[in-house]
Amino acid sequence: MESKIEELKKIAEEKIKNIQNSQELQDLKVQLLGKKSEISNLLKGLGALSPEERPKVGALVNKARTEIEEKIEKAEKKIKEKMLEEKIQKETIDITLPGTKIQRGSKHPVNRVIEEIEDLFVSMGYDVISGPELETDEYCFERLNLPQGHPARDMQDSFYITNEYLLRTQTSAVQARAMVANTEKTPIRMICAGKTYRREDDATHSHQFGQVEGLVIDKKERNVSLADLKGTLEIFVKKLIGKNCELRFRPSYFPFTEPSYEVDVSCFKCGGKGCSLCKQTGWIEVLGAGIVHPNVLKMNGYDPEKFGGFAFGTGLERLAMFKYGIPDMRYLYTNDIRFLSQFDRKDEE
Ligand code: DAH
Repeated sequence: MESKIEELKKIAEEKIKNIQNSQELQDLKVQLLGKKSEISNLLKGLGALSPEERPKVGALVNKARTEIEEKIEKAEKKIKEKMLEEKIQKETIDITLPGTKIQRGSKHPVNRVIEEIEDLFVSMGYDVISGPELETDEYCFERLNLPQGHPARDMQDSFYITNEYLLRTQTSAVQARAMVANTEKTPIRMICAGKTYRREDDATHSHQFGQVEGLVIDKKERNVSLADLKGTLEIFVKKLIGKNCELRFRPSYFPFTEPSYEVDVSCFKCGGKGCSLCKQTGWIEVLGAGIVHPNVLKMNGYDPEKFGGFAFGTGLERLAMFKYGIPDMRYLYTNDIRFLSQFDRKDEE
């Protein structure tokens, strides 16, 4: 019996030695110590032995079992170490590899245009100011020489919240605010960019859009003239869109300026030849402008005998379209990441 147990141990040791991986070890464990193993059979057979032999053989079998268990444990440890070693070897980190790029958002083209316009006008000595989007009838119309019932109020449909309050239809309201807020009635040079709202909704109009407003008021003797307005707008448009674009001043009508102009820019898509975007005219209207109407000065506390100046207003989306060659305004609103991410690096160019 003793030699049989010894034999068993030897075979077990041999098998343990040849183990290559943890799966093999697991199988061997079942084979050597499981319910159907020889050791188990020996233990089961103890009952058949004589009472003298039973404890002796029992002790021997148990000892052999413990020894095998210990060996398996050791082998297990070794395999684990080996596996870890292999894993470390395989996983060596190449610190020269580029890291995982964190996706960065990009500035919206309209915000880029706003920032660029603000920088440009600040460099010409203008202040950047802002005004409320929920505006009073008084500032949106009344103080801009558009009294109740004025036909020019019908040039657009407005979102009235109450009889007094509406979503501003134009940033021109901020002109009036700037004049009123300047209690010392000193010269003004300001621009204001922001959202405006009109009840329009079709392929080329949105109920919400951006405008930039500019206002210059100075003493009469400084003679702020149409030439200054023209020069300012030329610098503005050419800096923003490119030297090669042409500007065209057309006489127009706005209640808050006299004389008034609409300013067109040569179409960026066809270069002025005429295409569907510019409705075959070669020009796209981008600005409204003029010499500030004496009534507007008066209503906002400036003496038209002593002060004069010019004002202009322009649509931000149109400027962004020109600047970046965007053929459809709706791209600016639909938040398609494939479109927006193209503006990632435009600033550095
Ligand atoms: N507010 C006008 C519009 O929305 C544009 C405009 C025209 C602004 C003439 C001005 C201006 O400041 O002087 O159509």
